[in-house]
Amino acid sequence: MNQDQLKQQAAQAALAYVNDGEVIGVGTGSTVNFFIDALAAKKDRIAGAVSSSEASTLRLEALGIEVLDLNSVGEFSVYVDGADEVNPAKHMIKGGGAALTREKIVAAVAKKFVCIVDASKQVDVMGRFPLPVEVIPMARSYVARELVKLGGDPVYREGVVTDNGNVILDVHNMKITDAVALERDINAIVGVVTNGLFAARGADHVIVGSKNGAIEL
Ligand code: A5P
Repeated sequence: MNQDQLKQQAAQAALAYVNDGEVIGVGTGSTVNFFIDALAAKKDRIAGAVSSSEASTLRLEALGIEVLDLNSVGEFSVYVDGADEVNPAKHMIKGGGAALTREKIVAAVAKKFVCIVDASKQVDVMGRFPLPVEVIPMARSYVARELVKLGGDPVYREGVVTDNGNVILDVHNMKITDAVALERDINAIVGVVTNGLFAARGADHVIVGSKNGAIEL
């Protein structure tokens, strides 16, 4: 099985968490794209979707799934999203696709976060994947200097503007042993919108596509 087939397997398994009549929170990325495609088969049985990016909104709408404004729905049950890394504590690095802030917002409103990944995303210690940080443009150099003080090597993701009009710094060479503390410390830097650590609010369920089938951790 190739990596796309493993992603598809995890995405398909996440449909078990989609209940009739409910609003579904939808993340962003290549794994979630498989989930959106699978969700289309249930589009007449759900109340619609809340989207975490312009890209996912376009895909949802193209498949006839109604996209709702987060401000118009209350709390909902399930948010499904991928990750760039996930550890055994179900903490994640996200934001490889630059959608981290809206992802974190939609995830915060959902009662359950269902993370779907292929086996290559599983790690014991996070940090090999550079940690994305969304930053207000005028604060970019200041935030970069502060991230160096925290032990990282920030690199400006040139040419990328987020859906919120901000920029991304990818922080290399962080060995993340206390993800909750690091998430908090980076968010405390003035000019940071959010960072790609999902630890204070990690996943509730992690479904891994593997050569042995879709496995829930
Ligand atoms: C988007 O900003 C990210 O958080 C994605 O969820 C993450 O990068 C995983 O993407 P893939 O499913 O494409 O690997």
